[in-house]
Amino acid sequence: MSKEEYTKIVLPEEKIPRYWYNVQADMPNPMEPGLNPQTKQVLKPEDLAPIFPMSLIGQEVTTERYVEIPEEVREIYKKWRPSPLFRARGLEKALGTSSRIYYKYEGVSPVGSHKLNTAVPQAYYNKEAGIKRLSTETGAGQWGTALALACKMFDIECIVYMVRISFQQKPYRRTFMQAYGAECLASPTDKTEIGRRVLKEYPDTPGTLGIAISEAVEDAAGRDDTNYSLGSVLNHVCLHQSIIGQEVKLQMEMVDDYPDVIVGCCGGGSNFAGIAFPFIPDKLQGKKVRLVGVEPAACPTMTKGAYAYDYCDVAGMTPLMKMYTLGHEFTPPGIHAGGLRYHGESPLLSRLYYDGLTEAVAVKQKGVFEAALLFAQTEGIIPAPESAHAIKTAIDEALKAKEEGVEKSIVLNLSGHGHLDLTAYENYFAGKIEDVEFPEEELKKQLANLPKV
Ligand SMILES: Cc1ncc(COP(=O)(O)O)c(C=O)c1O
Repeated sequence: MSKEEYTKIVLPEEKIPRYWYNVQADMPNPMEPGLNPQTKQVLKPEDLAPIFPMSLIGQEVTTERYVEIPEEVREIYKKWRPSPLFRARGLEKALGTSSRIYYKYEGVSPVGSHKLNTAVPQAYYNKEAGIKRLSTETGAGQWGTALALACKMFDIECIVYMVRISFQQKPYRRTFMQAYGAECLASPTDKTEIGRRVLKEYPDTPGTLGIAISEAVEDAAGRDDTNYSLGSVLNHVCLHQSIIGQEVKLQMEMVDDYPDVIVGCCGGGSNFAGIAFPFIPDKLQGKKVRLVGVEPAACPTMTKGAYAYDYCDVAGMTPLMKMYTLGHEFTPPGIHAGGLRYHGESPLLSRLYYDGLTEAVAVKQKGVFEAALLFAQTEGIIPAPESAHAIKTAIDEALKAKEEGVEKSIVLNLSGHGHLDLTAYENYFAGKIEDVEFPEEELKKQLANLPKV
């Protein structure tokens, strides 16, 4: 069939990739190494051993181009993979564009987002290492839900520290996690030392991913039966998500098309890395594909942050990573895209962005919700507010192409649906969604306080 006939581009199950793609094999400049938070020396694998299994630590540092997906994980992937690539015909029509807009729909996973792509292998490798319990943080709740299900699949206990403001905004997320047998707590909690410290100093804090990460790491570091699991940022997470972009390549081949622009929203960077990194080798070989990461104007890590060593959490318990950062103590305003309220960015993505191989834009909340509603009304899917950032930018790209009189092929990652984000939509309808101004003064203060290495 030609590209004009397809609306839903579907691959057969046997086309689920057998390998994850590792961008570390192809980067013109390798990322800087992580540093031990106490000694500030280059991180050794054994530094991470108290909270991660050796197999994942190995994936963190490997420069092999392809890493085999374990058969058991691939079998589970069959529940929702390959995910469909849709041609957004309704949206194209509404925009009056002759550009082609495609969306890779990761909301078809049982938990409604891309997060299960890495939750399953992380639970698998931890089970293999004899771990009985996993602790994690969650922003919007999507990651916590994914890990809760993955843990249930491998008979592992799961505890989730959920950023307080999202816990309040999305009460059903907690129920979702409970349904899979996980425990979900509003962070900061009084169960950890760091939680108690923050509560004492800032009793009304909305919470941040940085605080929740500190709590989950403290929990894992304090118990032999428990490991920590992170839903974004780290290399092995980006590696697992590469399944998205590899499928997109095959799907675009099916319709004899190739993207001019690939767009994904960026929290810690994993869904964008997942769709974009498999295109890096093509780009290095001269293909003109643009890779655009989209962040909220309220938390503009790449567009306004510094490329510097910083902690991944508030308490400074995690390794120091060289990444784009707004400062590990920065509290982003309580926007509705909770999964994008993170001060840092994946070190792999940060390096590629620094080297000019990817681009970044920041968009404001109101425009994001307008784009989300246009998408819902033309394509039928209510997007997660995080994913709607990618929709907004894809629309902007299509309108720019229209103005310039050119035709583009635009692919966006629809990282999740927004069925449990209806409070955000309700607030939009009630006129309560504000374009939060970014606190520039606060940023200056935070950047002046970055750890010295
Ligand atoms: C639906 C959805 N998309 C995107 C993100 C952002 O994370 P990442 O940048 O790792 O993809 C989240 C995080 O919670 C999410 O829930």
